[in-house]
Amino acid sequence: MNYSEWLTMKALEYRDDVLYFAGKNTLEISKEYGTPIYVINENTIRERYRILKNLLNSEYENNRIHYAVKANSNLSILKILHSEGASFDCTSMGEIYTCFKADISPEKIIYTGNMFTDEDFTFAVKNKVLINLDSVSQLKRLVKIHEDLGREKSIISFRINPEFGAGHHSHTITAGKTIKFGILEEQAIEAYSKAKEHGFEKFGIHQHIGSGVLNAQDFKKPVEKYISIIKKVAKSLEIEFDFIDFGGGLGIPYRPLKEPLDFDIYKDVVIKPFKQLVNSEDIGKPIFKIEPGRYLTAESSILLTQINTIKNNGFKLFAGVDAGFNTLLRPTLYNSYHHIIACNKKGKTSTLTYDVTGPICESGDILGKNRELDKLEEKDVLAILDVGAYGFTMSSNYNSRPRPAEVLISNKSVYEIRKAETFEELLKGQKVPEHL
Ligand SMILES: Cc1ncc(COP(=O)(O)O)c(C=O)c1O
Repeated sequence: MNYSEWLTMKALEYRDDVLYFAGKNTLEISKEYGTPIYVINENTIRERYRILKNLLNSEYENNRIHYAVKANSNLSILKILHSEGASFDCTSMGEIYTCFKADISPEKIIYTGNMFTDEDFTFAVKNKVLINLDSVSQLKRLVKIHEDLGREKSIISFRINPEFGAGHHSHTITAGKTIKFGILEEQAIEAYSKAKEHGFEKFGIHQHIGSGVLNAQDFKKPVEKYISIIKKVAKSLEIEFDFIDFGGGLGIPYRPLKEPLDFDIYKDVVIKPFKQLVNSEDIGKPIFKIEPGRYLTAESSILLTQINTIKNNGFKLFAGVDAGFNTLLRPTLYNSYHHIIACNKKGKTSTLTYDVTGPICESGDILGKNRELDKLEEKDVLAILDVGAYGFTMSSNYNSRPRPAEVLISNKSVYEIRKAETFEELLKGQKVPEHL
């Protein structure tokens, strides 16, 4: 894949030295709506969903894709995916509430929290949302809440920690003996046998090994271990599974020329072993589930940010922009790479090396380190790519900066789907005691 193919894959192209995204002029968007601004392409989300759905359908029709809401919980994004037929994976009551506001019904949601409180359980049981437990100890509390509310116990699932994890950063690897998530092999039988004793009659099982996995081979070992655990549980307790969930984690190519995840390998190491399990063991007719977040939304969005200061301190060149780690946290939090390009290309006469930095009062506020860019000027606009997952959802008001607006490009029209916050909103909820 060459550079322009890589850009095309993300709906980006230069026309007369101006960057277009999803067919729209990025300079015009930045002028009309201001910067920084998240710009989302509806079409990419639909396309990625369909690619994945077709892949699963071609192998095993009884499947469900639960979009991981944490990646991007904007109501319009949820509605787009809902209209495609997606189901949803939530990690908090707030995410479930947001799904309800997007007219998503409880049967479409799996609640994979961790360190669940009684309040979490009560909310889920009252709203008939499927709970995926993260610890054997939680079962007793969940049963009591069913009993207190007089609700029937129907289906229960546990998150398995298969000990082999993967991900783009140590913070996003979610399997391993020292990792807080899920239950280890040694406790799996105890978990399901207790669930049976407590009167649960239907069962699901789940794993999620990490986030940002671009080498599909990384799923092989965890899946092998997971399947061996499923076999053991099914055999020793004679239970069948209504669903088997393989989690999310599907990575995207953030760096130029990187190839996307190889779905042939993904099929071989995830879907085929699952089919073999279903065909060879007495485990019922489970739904095959996955929970991608990043794969569905990351490449759908760019962040437009304007340069306010070009600084040469004698050692280094800085391009200071109006987005910081309050707007996009990933580079600071994970040292993540997001490709940065100019919206008004200058013609490649003199390429210079810049640190693209934000306005936050911390030296770690760097959106791109040592980036080769055409000579930049104050007032130029830059596009930071692949920010549709864990972009806006991780943004904050640090340094009392309002969060930016979001616009959606849909069939060449631009819709504001979130207004930029105001100063007034920064103070929302604060109360000053009378003596002050
Ligand atoms: C339980 C669970 N499922 C799915 C996901 C989505 O991961 P990704 O966006 O990498 O697909 C996450 C992300 O942290 C998760 O914790």
